[in-house]
Amino acid sequence: MIANVSGNHIAVGLTGLGFYAPERVLTNEDLAAMVDTSDEWITTRTGIKERRIAEPEQAASDLALPAARRALEQAGVTAEELDLVVVATATPDMLFPATAAILADELGATRAAAYDLLAGCTGFVYALSQVYGAVAAGLSRRALIVGAEVLSKITNWQDRSTCILFGDGAGAAVVQPITAGGIVGFELGADGSGGLDLCVPAGGSRRPVSPDVLEQELQFIKMNGAEVFRFATRVMVSSAEELLAACDATVEDVDLYVPHQANKRIVDHVVRNLGLDPEKVLMNIDRYGNTSSASIPICLAEAQADGLLQEGTRVLISAVGAGLTWGSVYLTWTTRGEE
Ligand code: UT7
Repeated sequence: MIANVSGNHIAVGLTGLGFYAPERVLTNEDLAAMVDTSDEWITTRTGIKERRIAEPEQAASDLALPAARRALEQAGVTAEELDLVVVATATPDMLFPATAAILADELGATRAAAYDLLAGCTGFVYALSQVYGAVAAGLSRRALIVGAEVLSKITNWQDRSTCILFGDGAGAAVVQPITAGGIVGFELGADGSGGLDLCVPAGGSRRPVSPDVLEQELQFIKMNGAEVFRFATRVMVSSAEELLAACDATVEDVDLYVPHQANKRIVDHVVRNLGLDPEKVLMNIDRYGNTSSASIPICLAEAQADGLLQEGTRVLISAVGAGLTWGSVYLTWTTRGEE
């Protein structure tokens, strides 16, 4: 689906950002002591140097909570004022209840509807589009979206083709009506025919956990890396191009490009193909690895802390992930809440 929403009656923006990354750092050297790999291979093939790993007792909501509190504080919104909480995650605390409901309770968001959304690494962009719709339609006035992942718990630490990629973290944003600017458009899609190229085969209703599942290690991430790589480079380019065209914009209009931090080589390829100035590209994969739905809000929160998000900054965001899904959003940065 694709839409230029700039003509809509209610302008919608991100009025507060926050993120949290667990303290424990796992370096490439640490991984080289666990599987047959090297810092050199991981760095040149992915751009990753280190990633954060949650403590055994930490679940997705534990990472989401501090990120959400920071976003609320920055927006000047209290938890009681929230009417909607959406958590994008592929690693919920439990299959149900939703991590969003657990988070809303911990925050004290007693007036909010709360649900989880599953779109893999595209989860934050999907959540933003859903919440955009709710706010633009007048259904929600103060919403919170969080991308939160504890991928280390579904990673096979003996599989060198996946364990080097992923990290844990959470990023949050408050979404509200604003006076002007804000979200200009979305482009989203899914191609379920490639779903098995990036999946956790068991633990759902198709293959419930059993001794057999555990023996075959089907409770962990399985990935056809080369296929996902090809898919990602293709759709991140086409999604951005189609969205910019729908928004009557070109790559020259983009001040800041925030790509999902999947692999530096994927991003380099996309940037080259789009003809984007590499100076405008945000990367932090070297420090966090691929944190799935958390990667974009963590990037945004860091960009803001670095002064890269000013009133009027035009931001292009693109993501790709399990589903397979993809999505882009184009927005003009402004935090001026509605008067
Ligand atoms: O958000 C979406 C989530 N997923 C992704 O973004 C993943 C997209 N895919 C990728 O990022 C890349 O495909 C990987 C980083 C996963 C793999 O990189 P690649 O350049 O596609 O490597 P490859 O799978 O083609 O493997 C090349 C070689 C193989 O050895 P042979 O068969 O050529 O002898 C692998 O066995 O590299 C080997 N290899 C490794 N060697 C050292 C695979 N993983 C490792 C490793 N260390 N960790």
